[in-house]
Amino acid sequence: MSEIRPIQWKDGTLELLDQTRLPGEQVLLALDDYRGAVAAIRDMQVRGAPAIGVTAAYAVVMAAAELPAADKAAFIAGLQEAATVINAARPTAVNLQWAVRRMLRVAEAEAETEPDLNRVKERLLTEAQAIQQEDEDINRRMGDLGKALMPDGGSVLTHCNTGALATSAFGTALGVIRAGWEAGQRFRVFNTETRPFLQGARLTAWEFRQLGIPATLIVDSAAGLLMQRGEISCVITGADRIAANGDTANKIGTYALAVLARENNIPFYVAAPTSTVDLSLASGEAIEIEERAGAEVTHFQGVPTAPVGVDALNPAFDVTPHRYISAIVTENAVARPPFVESLKLAVGGGE
Ligand code: MRU
Repeated sequence: MSEIRPIQWKDGTLELLDQTRLPGEQVLLALDDYRGAVAAIRDMQVRGAPAIGVTAAYAVVMAAAELPAADKAAFIAGLQEAATVINAARPTAVNLQWAVRRMLRVAEAEAETEPDLNRVKERLLTEAQAIQQEDEDINRRMGDLGKALMPDGGSVLTHCNTGALATSAFGTALGVIRAGWEAGQRFRVFNTETRPFLQGARLTAWEFRQLGIPATLIVDSAAGLLMQRGEISCVITGADRIAANGDTANKIGTYALAVLARENNIPFYVAAPTSTVDLSLASGEAIEIEERAGAEVTHFQGVPTAPVGVDALNPAFDVTPHRYISAIVTENAVARPPFVESLKLAVGGGE
């Protein structure tokens, strides 16, 4: 099987596998303008916290390409202006702001010593490519560290899409499942459909098929019944932002799964790179929850599934309080409660 790589940079063009068209069609979007990349993030043609970060990094490269290589101050100011637009594409996944900040730091540092701004632009491309490659390496490390949590002979439930499509390659929570499976453990996999955007039904189910890992799709609201019947051994999800105390923002419905898991004495795991950990936030209360258009709830691919004109509320994420989380798998360590200490150590590079 060839690896799924949803983001590719080819000679000045950013190619994205359009995730709104999957699983029916595999369509590549070719972008050479940072505003197009911002729209692709906003419209969820590319989605998933790490993938949004990588796309944002390439958006900075494309913004830099548009700027004249004449005046350093104007170049940095232009880049900062574009960064504000890129940062506003989606609010919850901190990887986006993290990647943009890293790119701006490189631009500023390079422009200090490099008089040729075209060289600075080249350096920005190298940085975006490094972010992309690091993300794949990090995911593989998370898989290695987290696979021991997978229940040989049991079953695992996951939510949303946290696979290659949500990252550069390999995935976070789905990567941990994959690593366990590839290490020879055998367990049953359940994945939720993930209303309303159906990242689980459309994307995760597709990825498991590509990987040859048997998985069973359930409606989101079937999770409680399966847990009550003893059919789930553990839950693992990704994250869009993790506060210093371990409170975790992730796809809407994650909190409900975590509470159900606790009620049924089932471990609940999160897998995320340290770039998703936001140590500047003491708790999850300050995490901005994206509200998306009600039309995503009342329609499916343009077809109404509710009475025309009905009011709908569409929060895209929720925050799971840290007390429901058994462990957070990062690329550096498997953090356990109390997360205030273990996450700080993990972000610092070790246990
Ligand atoms: O709205 P989405 O599809 O971008 O939400 C994605 C999630 O919530 C994922 O679980 C999270 O980004 C982790 S992806 C590796």
